[in-house]
Amino acid sequence: MDYHDTLDFLIDVFGGAEKLQKLLGVGPSALSNYRTRKHLPLIQARKLSKIAPQFGFNLDPHNLKISFKNENQNLEILLIITGGIAAYKALELIRRLKDFDFSITSVMTESAKKFITPLSVTALSGNKVYSEMFDFTEEQEMGHIQLARKADLILVAPATANFIGKLANGLADDLASTICLVTNAPIYIAPAMNPQMWSNIATKDNCATLLSRGFRFLGPDDGNTACGEIGSGRFAETGYIISEIQMALQKKVNKKVNNNNLEHLKLLDGIQILITAGPTFEPIDPVRFVGNRSSGKQGYAIAASCAAAGASVCLISGPVNLETPGGVRLIQVETADQMKEACEKEINADCVICAAAVSDWKPIKVANKKIKKTPETNPKISLTKTPDILSFIGHHPSRPKLVIGFAAETDNLETNAKNKRKIKNADWILANPIFQSSASVFNSDSNEIFFISDKESLYWEAKSKISIANKLTSKICEYFSCFQQKEVT
Ligand SMILES: Cc1cc2nc3c(=O)[nH]c(=O)nc-3n(C[C@H](O)[C@H](O)[C@H](O)COP(=O)(O)O)c2cc1C
Repeated sequence: MDYHDTLDFLIDVFGGAEKLQKLLGVGPSALSNYRTRKHLPLIQARKLSKIAPQFGFNLDPHNLKISFKNENQNLEILLIITGGIAAYKALELIRRLKDFDFSITSVMTESAKKFITPLSVTALSGNKVYSEMFDFTEEQEMGHIQLARKADLILVAPATANFIGKLANGLADDLASTICLVTNAPIYIAPAMNPQMWSNIATKDNCATLLSRGFRFLGPDDGNTACGEIGSGRFAETGYIISEIQMALQKKVNKKVNNNNLEHLKLLDGIQILITAGPTFEPIDPVRFVGNRSSGKQGYAIAASCAAAGASVCLISGPVNLETPGGVRLIQVETADQMKEACEKEINADCVICAAAVSDWKPIKVANKKIKKTPETNPKISLTKTPDILSFIGHHPSRPKLVIGFAAETDNLETNAKNKRKIKNADWILANPIFQSSASVFNSDSNEIFFISDKESLYWEAKSKISIANKLTSKICEYFSCFQQKEVT
């Protein structure tokens, strides 16, 4: 489907151009502008993705792909309801997930049962509710291990501060927390609590621990919380939770849906890919840093695309303002040194893609207090080179089979990129021309690439960063399928 078709399709499914304009809060000229520029801003796509479930489908805001509800049959969500005031919202969530044909099995903590009854949960989900750890009958018919293993995804909604704390500390003192320790399924957490509780350092630390272990958070939102206070801690919108769950399960869903990503869906199964993305910030003092304008969008799009093609993806990211793509393990870093260290720990991958815009220099000395502004003197900041991560990986004794680097170049693009490939011992270089102002290149949603390998020099015309990511993923699929064939023969 080309972009015009995609937009026309969206107009149709959302009930016509006028309806879509209303939903987006724009006039006819903006819509025609999106068509001309072949670009629906992500913020608008997200708006549509939030309301799409009301129209009977889900929309992936990153690639505008639509999946219809009956595609979810046989996908099993284990919903853990914990004891917060927002527990009643789990009922609405179950109803909506059922509308999308997910199969829901629910587990309630003892506290959750003080807020809503297991009977309501059973009635809405159409399945038995589990709660007891030491119940002979329950263990016999569906024990904690089977419950954990049959789930395609575990959703904790609402998640109390207490339950988040238990997960972060690996406690297993009730059925719900034990299941979370036993499972192989991805765990999604939708916290809901009093804003003070959410901003408490203990809760923050627990969430950071869980994030670093690959748990995903949905919300919380800002606004009026169920306990009556205003702030961050509100249970996320049901539509948002459903669309994120749908996206997370897209890999399984895609196996049943005939969409245009199918051809390379399984091709990266079993392949480990390490990706770096975003800028690095090199501190001058506790508040200032040397950095650059990289948004991280290209690296994140590649991570999403490789994960959708079945790869196991580790994304090492500098400071960005982007959501972690579903199924991707994120390691957050700030400086070039931290990025290099994280890359070294994760180097046992099959492929590495260095898409981060690593700062070239860092201050030699970092002041441990904020440097004071004085009328007489300007501070002198001496810089030194940061580690060259691509070259480090390219020459590493455990070098991954396929090493890919990015090069932002202003002139002599092809020659510079070819030289860079050799010097860094990379297999492929993706060079982006920076002809426009740097701000537009780094923040834009599109990119233009010269692909350089030892055999090829190709031009990939300006396309969305998602399209470029898909193109690169296809190339990686080709590479690994050839490689596997060579290994077999
Ligand atoms: C009326 C009431 C409302 C509560 N609401 C919340 C809440 O929204 N979020 C939360 O984290 N804890 C809330 N709590 C505290 C939890 O119920 C308490 O921490 C409990 O131990 C959680 O148990 P669980 O995590 O096993 O479900 C509330 C307690 C009461 C009495």
